[in-house]
Amino acid sequence: MTADNKRIVLSSDHSAILLRQAIAAHIAAQGWEVVDIGPVTPESTPYPEHGAAAARRVASGDCRLGVILCGTGQGIMMAANKIKGVRCGVCADTFSARMIRQHNDANMLSIGARVVGEGLALDIVDAFLAAPFDGGRHVARVAMIGALEA
Ligand code: RB5
Repeated sequence: MTADNKRIVLSSDHSAILLRQAIAAHIAAQGWEVVDIGPVTPESTPYPEHGAAAARRVASGDCRLGVILCGTGQGIMMAANKIKGVRCGVCADTFSARMIRQHNDANMLSIGARVVGEGLALDIVDAFLAAPFDGGRHVARVAMIGALEA
């Protein structure tokens, strides 16, 4: 995977299937290679499994970025952040979505499907995908996050 490749993993629990599919269509139309790992049926399914599965795609380098969703975005974010190398933030606004890329070099974004509507969610995803990591003084700070995993 190159640093600028446009391969992205999407996952959610049952609460966010429709929003996840809307995000998939939205970013595929922008040229992203979307790896949507489901689920596709509405039965209740535990968010830790789906967060971890998506996070492993990012941590392994199979996908450069990931977007995950559950009802609040919180539980699936917590699960994803247990996978070494993953930096995932929950965002309900576009400023935060931009800043977790610029300052924290986040490689995953989490959204609460019961928190934000589809229009805002798509804007949040766009802000996240468009923002580069600023580097500079933030490099050492991000490295400090990684050091906590040791
Ligand atoms: C599922 O009902 C709900 O708990 C889940 O989607 C998420 O909000 C957990 O953090």
